[in-house]
Amino acid sequence: MHVLITGGAGFIGSHLVDRHLARGDKVHVVDDLSTGSRDNLAAHLDRPDFRLSEADIVTWDGLSEAVGWADRIYHLAAVVGVFRVLELPISLMSTNVIGCARLLRAVEHCGWRPQVLLASSSEVYGPRTDPCLREDMDLIIQPEAPPRWNYAISKLADEAFGLSYARIEGIPVTVVRLFNTVGPRQVGRYGMVVPRFVRQAVTGEPLMVFGDGTQSRAFTDVRDTVVMLDQLADQATTEGLIVNVGGNHELSINDLARRVIERAGSDSAIERLPYEVAYGQQYVDIPHRCPDLTRLHALIEHRPQWTLDATLDDLIARVRQREGVS
Ligand SMILES: NC(=O)c1ccc[n+]([C@@H]2O[C@H](COP(=O)([O-])OP(=O)(O)OC[C@H]3O[C@@H](n4cnc5c(N)ncnc54)[C@H](O)[C@@H]3O)[C@@H](O)[C@H]2O)c1
Repeated sequence: MHVLITGGAGFIGSHLVDRHLARGDKVHVVDDLSTGSRDNLAAHLDRPDFRLSEADIVTWDGLSEAVGWADRIYHLAAVVGVFRVLELPISLMSTNVIGCARLLRAVEHCGWRPQVLLASSSEVYGPRTDPCLREDMDLIIQPEAPPRWNYAISKLADEAFGLSYARIEGIPVTVVRLFNTVGPRQVGRYGMVVPRFVRQAVTGEPLMVFGDGTQSRAFTDVRDTVVMLDQLADQATTEGLIVNVGGNHELSINDLARRVIERAGSDSAIERLPYEVAYGQQYVDIPHRCPDLTRLHALIEHRPQWTLDATLDDLIARVRQREGVS
C-alpha cells in the first residue's frame, strides 16, 4: 500500500510511519517540521520505501502528485498545542482549514479515490460538561469565541469539509476525534502535560499544574492510537464517519501529577499556576473530557494494550536515559 502522511514527522504521525513501514507499505511524509522533527523519522530517512518532503501543506506544489500516488492518506498536519493555539490564531486557521481543503480538493481531482483519515479533536465538543462525549451530541461554540476556540473551529471546519467531500465527491473519509494521546516523541513545550510532568519528576523540579488541577482527562498511548487509526482508515466510507478515538479511564491532573511522581520515585513537589500566568492570558479550560467509545468499539477490534502506568514507566525510563539521570 502507498501511504501519504501529512504531519508525519510529528508525534502521532511518526508512529504511523513506523507501523506502515514495518508492514511493508511505502510511505511519503509531508511536514514543514514546525513542531515535528527529522529525529522522529531518523530510522527511516535512508530507506528506499520512505520519502520525506519538507513543505508547508498550504503552499506545497507537490500535493496533487503525492495524493495521486497514495492508496491511503492520513491528514495530521496542523497547528497543535495550547501555547501555539494561543500564539498563532491566524496561521492556525490557515494551516488547519486551508491545508485540509487543499488536500481534499487534490483528492477530488486525482482521478481516483484513496482512503482519507482526517484528524479532528475532542476540542470540538467545546465546554460541554457531560460525563461522556458522544459523536452525535450537539457541539457548543461560545459566542464571540476567543482565539482559544480557533483550534476547535478549525477542526470542525475540517470535519465539515471531509463529510461534504465524502458525500458529494464519493471520497471515502473517516474523521477521528482524538482525545488526549500520550507516549514517546510527544514534547512538552507546546503545552502537553504528560511529557512536561515526566521531565519535571525525573529532574526533581516541581510539577507545575495549570489551574487548580481538578480538571480531568483520559489518556491513550500513541502505540494503541495508531493501530486504531489504521483499522479506522480501513472503514472509511463515502457516507462519512466521525469516531471518537481515545481511552475512558479518566483522572484529574492533580492525580496525574501524583501518579507521575510515584512511578518515578521522585521527591518533586506539586505547585499550581493560574492559567493567566501559565498561558499569559485568560484561558477557559474544560473541566473534564472523556469519550464515549461505543461507536469505536463497534467498528474495530483493537482495544488498548498500554495502561497509563505502563506508558508512564516507559516515558520515565526514556527521559532518565536522555537526561543521564539514574
Ligand atoms: N496528540 C493529541 O493528544 C491530539 C489530540 C487531538 C487531536 N490531535 C490531532 O492529531 C494530529 C497530530 O497531532 P500530534 O499530537 O502528532 O502533534 P504534532 O505537532 O506532533 O504533529 C503535527 C505535525 O504537523 C506538522 N505541521 C504543522 N503545520 C504544518 C504545515 N503547514 N505543513 C506541513 N506540516 C505541518 C508539524 O510539523 C507536526 O509534525 C493533529 O492534527 C492534531 O490536531 C492530537
